[in-house]
Amino acid sequence: MLAVPRHVFVPEAPLRAAYADDVFVTKRNNEGVPVSSASQPAIVAEMLEQLDVRPGHKVLEIGAGTGYNASLLDDLVGPEGSVVAVDLDADTVKRARDALEAVGRRRVEVVHGDGELGHADGAPYDRIIVTVGTWDLPPAWWDQLVDGGRLVAPLQIRSSEHSIAFELSGGVMRSRSVITCGFMPMRGLGSYESRVVELSEGRIIAFHADEEVEVGGARGVLDERGATVWTGVRIAPGEDTAQLSLWLACGFSGYGRMSAPFGDHGKLRLLLRWANPGIVDGRAFAYLACRRTADGSAIEAGVCGHGPGGADLAERVARQVRVWDRECRAERRLQIEAYREGVGPTVEGWFVVPKRHSRLAIRLA
Ligand SMILES: C[S@@+](CC[C@H](N)C(=O)[O-])C[C@H]1O[C@@H](n2cnc3c(N)ncnc32)[C@H](O)[C@@H]1O
Repeated sequence: MLAVPRHVFVPEAPLRAAYADDVFVTKRNNEGVPVSSASQPAIVAEMLEQLDVRPGHKVLEIGAGTGYNASLLDDLVGPEGSVVAVDLDADTVKRARDALEAVGRRRVEVVHGDGELGHADGAPYDRIIVTVGTWDLPPAWWDQLVDGGRLVAPLQIRSSEHSIAFELSGGVMRSRSVITCGFMPMRGLGSYESRVVELSEGRIIAFHADEEVEVGGARGVLDERGATVWTGVRIAPGEDTAQLSLWLACGFSGYGRMSAPFGDHGKLRLLLRWANPGIVDGRAFAYLACRRTADGSAIEAGVCGHGPGGADLAERVARQVRVWDRECRAERRLQIEAYREGVGPTVEGWFVVPKRHSRLAIRLA
């Protein structure tokens, strides 16, 4: 990161913002929603570690944005390797090319196109990195990755997003690491509309779920009284809770993501501000909350239930938080395998998430 001056990629940013560990939005749509940015440096670095890029690799990036990450990739692959970055928007492609030119990274190719289709001309790639939120793993990414290659993508699993490093071997992608992340969603061919419901009349706090989840019962539930169960499960400051989200997503068919974009959490603090685990079951709704432990060194996870049957749902969710704490925390982790649509053995004993072009299977490793 010291090799690449980030301010050249965000010339509109004051220097302090250019070097803050924060996302810098570079483009919004007509409604003011961010559609392009320089991602937060911390997640950029973590995803590059997940990608395990080596000198000489051929790398494809989906979501060129400012060109900053492509420039880092260029540094990692060295003179023997190559980097192609694709972006959906022509103006974004132009600014990425200009910035790469300005820092002398002329070998990076920036292509205008829909990343859902990859970039066949440069295939096959040793590494593919996706820097825009995706709901699926489309066919082109499988076709354009070498056997033994690695794909890192912010993948939505039941509305929660995780950056997953997959290794492709014999037509199956197997997860090597999973971390929490939050990216702007892919537009174009790979776009996906979640179901969204407002959980409160007065506050901006929403529940997002996949289209098969019946979310109606959650509308306005936070305006009613809730019942909280404290689990006794401690979470360390900065601990990644991706595994907890996945565990609950596998355990409850009404699982989804709760977001409080303006930080208005109501009476209880959410465990996560953007992607807090929430579960709807008929007219009952439960979500993860947290409080500081008495010694102040960690937080304790709790579950708050609302609506008819909410207290019972909160008890059931709390039980699963404790099971996760016992079974799935230290050495044992959830492992994700991805199969192409219509390919692969049946995966009995695994929790299966069907997608348009692929099938995910999740189990304790
Ligand atoms: C978070 S930004 C990427 C940040 C970038 N890696 C960087 O270093 O600045 C996401 C980018 O994905 C692009 N994008 C969205 N949908 C896309 C698609 N279907 N194909 C290619 N790019 C897409 C957006 O235009 C946006 O520039």
